[in-house]
This record gives sequence, C-alpha cells and structure tokens, in this order.
Amino acid sequence: MLCKSVSLRQYRNIEAADITFGPGITVIHGENAQGKTNLLEAVCTFALGKSFRGAADRDVILFDREYAEMKMTFADGIRDRTLRIFIPGKAGMRRVMEDNGVKIARVADMIGQFRAVLFCPEHLSLIQEGPMARRNFLDVAISQLRPVYMATLTDYNRVLKQRNALIKQAEEDRRPFDETIEFWSSQLAQKGALLCAARLDYTKRVCASVAACFADMTGGRETPELTYMGSAHLETEQYADTALVEKSLFELLMSHHDREIGAGTTLWGPHKDDIAVTLNGKEARFFASQGQQRSLSIAMKLAEGEISMEDSGEYPVFLFDDVLSELDKNRRQYLLERIAGKQVIMTTCEPLGEGISADVISVNNGLFTQVKS
Ligand SMILES: Nc1ncnc2c1ncn2[C@@H]1O[C@H](COP(=O)(O)OP(=O)(O)O)[C@@H](O)[C@H]1O
Ligand SMILES: [Mg+2]
Repeated sequence: MLCKSVSLRQYRNIEAADITFGPGITVIHGENAQGKTNLLEAVCTFALGKSFRGAADRDVILFDREYAEMKMTFADGIRDRTLRIFIPGKAGMRRVMEDNGVKIARVADMIGQFRAVLFCPEHLSLIQEGPMARRNFLDVAISQLRPVYMATLTDYNRVLKQRNALIKQAEEDRRPFDETIEFWSSQLAQKGALLCAARLDYTKRVCASVAACFADMTGGRETPELTYMGSAHLETEQYADTALVEKSLFELLMSHHDREIGAGTTLWGPHKDDIAVTLNGKEARFFASQGQQRSLSIAMKLAEGEISMEDSGEYPVFLFDDVLSELDKNRRQYLLERIAGKQVIMTTCEPLGEGISADVISVNNGLFTQVKS
C-alpha cells in the first residue's frame, strides 16, 4: 500500500495543501499547533472512515468556511486509486465519498480500501490503560480488515444504546422493559457473538506476532501472552463458537434484570471485553516495568501491520504521530529497523537527526513545504 499524494482544502487549519509522498519515510516537521496531526488525521480518515480524534465531520472544516475537501491517491498493488471526501458545512447535509469518481454509498464501503496503522503517544499506554483502549485497538484493526465487522459493531452499539435506555427507563416504568427486553437481549447476544469470534481470532494472531517480536527484542528472555477475555462466562477458546456464545450471552442478559436495573446499564457483552496481557506469566499491567509495557505496545502496533500484510499481501502505511520522541534510544532504533522498507509518515517537533534517511516536509501555520527529498 502506497499513499502517493494528498490534497486538502479547508481542512482544520490547512487552507490548501497538495503533498506528494515517497515510498519510504516522510517526516512532517514543525512547531506545536501548526497542523502536523491534522494532516495525519486527514490521511487516517481514508483508512478508518472517520477522524481518529473522534471529531464530527463538521468540526474538521476550517473555521467559518462552508466545506472541507480531502483527496488521496494511493496504489493498492494493482492500480492507482483516488478517494475523495467532500464535507459540506450546512446542517443536515452529509458527506460525499468517491472512489475514482464513483460514489461510495456507505462509510463501511470505503473502509478497507486504503489501509493504515496509526501509532500515537496514547498507544504507548495500551497496556496501562483500562480495557476500553484495548477494545478500541481491536475494533480499529479488525474493521480495516473486515468491513463487515465494522457494520456489526455499529449495529451492536445501536442495540446496546437501546437496551441501556430501556434499563434506565425501567426504574420509573417497568412495563415497556418487560415487554421488549427479550427482543433487545437476543439482538445484543446475536451481534455480540459475532464480535467475540472475530476478536478472539484477531487476538490470537496478535499474540503470535507480539511473541515473535519479543523473542527478537529480548533474545527470548521475556515471553508475552495476550489472551482474549470475553464476558459471557466461557473459556477463551469457546468464544469461537458463535452459537454457544449467543446462547450464553442471551441467558446472562435474561436472568439478571434486577441487577442490571440497579446498575443502570447492560452488564454483559463485548462492550465489557478485554485482552489480558502477561509477560513471563505475570499480568503486565501490574508487574511489567514502564519500558516493558511500552515495548509490548510497540509490538502490538507492529502486529497490526503484520496481520494486515498477511491478509492483503501488502504492508499498510504507518502513521506515527509524535511517537519517536517518546521512546528511548533502543526502542526508537528497534522501531525504525522494523519499519525499514515500508512507507511511514511521521510527525515530529524535534529535528530527527541520527542519520535517518527520509523526505522532510515542514509545516508552519497549516502551510506545508517540501524541505528535502
Ligand atoms: N476546524 C478547524 N479550523 C481551523 N483550525 C483548526 C480547526 N481544528 C483545529 N484547528 C487548529 O489546528 C491547530 C492544531 O493542529 P495540530 O495538527 O493538532 O497541531 P500539531 O502540529 O501540534 O500536531 C490548532 O491551532 C487548532 O486551533
Ligand atoms: Mg500533534
């Protein structure tokens, strides 16, 4: 996968930018608040279908303007393709998406065409953070490989919202709850089981890749293990059996209603999942050093790239937002070795130095200038 060029109009603080990228490392260099992350956010939108910062479409339009436009040309190994996203500012109007000039109807249809692995400082705390960070890791990675996963996840979240609203309302009026809870519980169990199976499978693949990475980094002294943890009261391996998971989840969702009403929320399902990460058999979150935790996070992000490569035959584009400056010399060196030969777009405030061969683009107040190529 090769991102060849990006054109932005009125995107965040970028009035207009037309940037071409080489096949190796491109460093986007500039002071704080100049537009470095904004550029990566735009590139990443073509991979995820939405802003990785969680911004709504209209928030990315340059203040007081009527629209934003983003275009990207990339090579997917077969041919060049141009994706375009047009974001109108008018309330009620929706974005327009095109693939080589042909309209794309749904966001889910765009995802998976251009693939990228985003790595930002928050990801360095993937291990210390609560379960949500690891669920997001799974969701973002699997969605790009399997667009149907994203569609199921969207459905699941919609059903979960309905079920939670019903639970909240039950304190005042129990009747609507009693009448419809079975329907929402069965929907949640059905969609949830599909998510569990995909997450179990992906976690196993990440585990294998992280283990290989660690053998490499530590000469086999440290053995990591990643285990998918579902919330349907089953053994890990049983999460591959969607019929069983659906049944087990449904039973849980139908037999503890007073507890759920007391808690005011749905207590079982993939929204409670986690990945247990251990190093030499000890839970990494509590026993690994900060350095080891960071190495694990790096290995998980590299795994995301390896798995994408296994499935598609091509490495995704790596987007590093300010991560190198966060790493010590050894980890920085390791990361650079591992991404050698792949396309990387990275941002930094500091000059990179250390003989890294890269194209350099500087950015000042949303204006990008090619410095070296
Ligand atoms: N919709 C917008 N319109 C104009 N400017 C914006 C918009 N959204 C964010 N910005 C500006 O973009 C700048 C931050 O850019 P960013 O890419 O995050 O900086 P950095 O170079 O530090 O990564 C801030 O000055 C912010 O005010
Ligand atoms: Mg930034």
